[in-house]
Formats: sequence, C-alpha cells, structure tokens
Amino acid sequence: MASVSVFGTGYLGATHAAGMAELGHDVIGVDVDEAKIERLSRGEVPFFEPELPELLRKHVESGRLRFTTDAREAVDAADIHFIGVGTPQKKGDYGADMRFVDAVIDTIAPLLTRPSVIFGKSTVPVGTAARLAARVRELAPVGDQAELAWNPEFLREGFAVEDTLRPDRLVLGVDPERPGRAEEVARDVYAGILARDTPFLVTDLATAELVKVSANAFLATKISFINAIAEVCDATGADVVQLADAIGYDERIGRKFLGAGLGFGGGCLPKDIRAFMARAGELGVDQALTFLREVDAVNMRRRDHVVQLAAQSVGGSLLGARIAVLGAAFKPNSDDVRDSPALDVAGRLHLGGADVRVYDPQGMANAAALWPTLTYAESIDSAVKDADLVIVATEWNEFRTADPGALGALVSKRRVIDGRNCLPVDAWRDAGWEYTGMGRHAG
Ligand code: UGA
Repeated sequence: MASVSVFGTGYLGATHAAGMAELGHDVIGVDVDEAKIERLSRGEVPFFEPELPELLRKHVESGRLRFTTDAREAVDAADIHFIGVGTPQKKGDYGADMRFVDAVIDTIAPLLTRPSVIFGKSTVPVGTAARLAARVRELAPVGDQAELAWNPEFLREGFAVEDTLRPDRLVLGVDPERPGRAEEVARDVYAGILARDTPFLVTDLATAELVKVSANAFLATKISFINAIAEVCDATGADVVQLADAIGYDERIGRKFLGAGLGFGGGCLPKDIRAFMARAGELGVDQALTFLREVDAVNMRRRDHVVQLAAQSVGGSLLGARIAVLGAAFKPNSDDVRDSPALDVAGRLHLGGADVRVYDPQGMANAAALWPTLTYAESIDSAVKDADLVIVATEWNEFRTADPGALGALVSKRRVIDGRNCLPVDAWRDAGWEYTGMGRHAG
C-alpha cells in the first residue's frame, strides 16, 4: 500500500482522498482553507455528497486519512501527489483560471527531494501538463526524478464516491519522451480498481487532457441538442420526451443526457466548454469549436425561456406575482449552486419584480450566500403557500413525488412549470393543475 497526498479538498479532492483510503492507501489531504481542513479532520464533509460522510468518517477514524494545511507535511509523508484543485472560469474571460494549480506546483516542487510522481486530476487547458512537468523538473531538488503525469477525473457530483471507486475507465497521460515510473505507480495505486478489468488507457499528456474536456463538451452538446429540439417541439406541438425516448433506443444515440429542460449548469460543463473554446482560439483552431458557442447559447436560452413562460403564465407581468421556485442546486443530490440554472431563474424572476420563494432540500445555505436577497422557504409547503405559480427547477425526488392534490390546496393558482420534465403530468393535470413542460406541448 502506498502513501499518497491529495491537494485540494473540494468535491473532487475530498472524494478522491477518501476513495484512496478505501483502496487501502495512507492518505493526507491538503488545502489552504483552514476551516475546511478542520471540519474534514473531525470527519465532517463540508458539502453535500451522498455516501461521502460515511466513507470519510470511516477512514479518519481508522487513521488512514488525515488532513493538513501544511504542504511540507504532505510532501514529507508521501511520494505520490494528486492535484485536485479547482480551475474556475477567469473573471471577464472564457479561459480557465490556472492560479490554484500553478500554486500547488510552485509550493510542492521545491520540496521534492525524493523521487516522486505528481498526478494532475484537475480539468485543464491542453498543454498545461507539459508546461507543469517542465516546471516541476526545474524547481525540484530531485530534478528529473520528479515526474508529472495527467490522470483526469470523470466523477459526477451526487455519484462521486461510486464514480471514484468504480469508474468506467481510467486515463493516464505520460510524456512519451520520458515515460518514467508514472504508469507503474498508477497501476499500483489503482490496483483495486484495475483488478475488476476497468479499462485503463495510457496515452500522452495532451490526449489525456483533451479526453476530459472532450467528454464534457460532448455531454454539454448532447444536452443542448435535445434542448434545441425542444424549441422545435414547442413550435410544432410535438413532445420532446417521447422523441428522446424514441431516438434513445438507437444504441448509437442512447437515452442518457437527453433530458430536455432548464439545461446544464454547475462548476464543470459551462466553464469547461468556454475554456475549451478559449484554448482552441489560442491554438489557432477556434473554428473547430465554434459549435460550442451555439451549445452555450442554446443552454442559456433555456433560462430565458422559463422566465418568459413564467411571465406569460402569471398574466404578462412578473410584478408582484408570487412564485415558488422548487430547486436551487444545479442538479439533484448536490448542494452545489455554481452556475445553477434554477438559481439563475429564481434570481431573474426576483429582479423582474416577482415575490419569489425558493426551496431546495440541500442547496439553501449556498444559495443564500450567493443570492442573499431572495426569500428562502423551509419546506415545499411553505414555498408554495399562496403561490400564483410553481416552478420545478431541479428534479429532486422530493419534488417528483410531491402530492399535487395536497400542494394544490396550498397555492393561490394551480399553475406549474416543470423545468425539468420530471413530474407525472397526468397526476398533476388530474389534480387540476395547468401544467407546462419543456418542449412538450403535446403533454
Ligand atoms: C460533469 C460530468 O458529467 C462528469 O463526468 C465530470 O467529471 C464533471 O462534470 C467534472 O468535470 O468534474 P457534474 O457537473 O457533476 O458532472 O454534472 P452532470 O451530471 O454532468 O450534470 C451537469 C448539468 O447538466 C446539470 O445541471 C444537469 O441538470 C444537466 N443535465 C444533465 C441536463 O440538463 N439534462 C440531462 O439530460 C443531463
């Protein structure tokens, strides 16, 4: 078993650290955020991620997993280092902000006095790994024996533990000119996963980086494709849900990620497609990715569409209309509100003069930090009380399975916009609701 460190303890890093401990390694997680490290050290996960609290507690208690803010302590303890810090969108620019990844390299490389392997997991612009590998060799006292490889992460929030312990593939990028020990070390670290015949693709650094952004670009494209078709369905009275079912039976297409609705958000897909376009521009191949601009535009139009539908539904003007927005997180089973379509819609309705009440099973604290001027309700019932309109903006189970009859008794008008096409339409209509879905006029 190996000793490993994980730099960054957000959704990716904290889950990876706990996952590595589950695979039998001694793990030290590092972050610059003292409050976060203090909570993690007590066995508490500072965000909502199913299954992670149990896994984290198990390994903090067993002593196999610890946390620190001291990079030197991590470098003393381990010779294998994972980087899982964020690469958010730069302010005022489409490119990725690399300062957190660069800071980790600049901090640890000068401390590497023993042969070491750094595995980058963050989503980065292609070319980053080669740049960082050279920087590590230059700064590390151990020189060429400090290696850097790229090992992109494909975990989904809400399924992060499952995706970390049972990924559908592992990808490793190494420098073909200096293959070093990275592959051998990765095979050792991931032995428990590879034993289940998990596909393991070893490639060069640029391909590994591109695999990650291409995967996210493809997923974003698939969602915007079905949302573009939803616009056509709306214009023709066709039903996008039946359409997606029908095309999804074709194995070449597949039904997953053909959920038409409010579109994609979160800390990954939106910023990743933008950073990908920015990087393509730098590489002189911007035309290759021009279609991603359209993917982004279709996606953002979904939010406008729901705001317009809401205004129409309450009689043309949002002023003074009481609207319940069910959902604030960017997707269910997450408390993440980064670039959340749900919160964006709630905010726009509020700015348009509506009296908006937001309820989310997990995302309220994060939502209130980002949008303190919105009103937050403590339950579905209190959110919908006296509402002129209910909008389902995140497809939490609690909303899918809510009793339309009981909710109908609380509202002022039985009007619902199903922004995620997740409600049982007949049950809602039977309970007297005027139901509007996304691209499903035929209902
Ligand atoms: C995404 C990728 O799915 C992961 O593979 C990747 O590792 C991760 O980004 C990352 O780069 O770290 P995640 O952001 O957790 O994962 O969320 P997704 O499950 O991909 O959902 C993204 C958004 O698309 C959500 O807002 C969701 O509501 C929306 N979506 C998804 C749809 O609108 N329709 C669908 O059919 C599916």
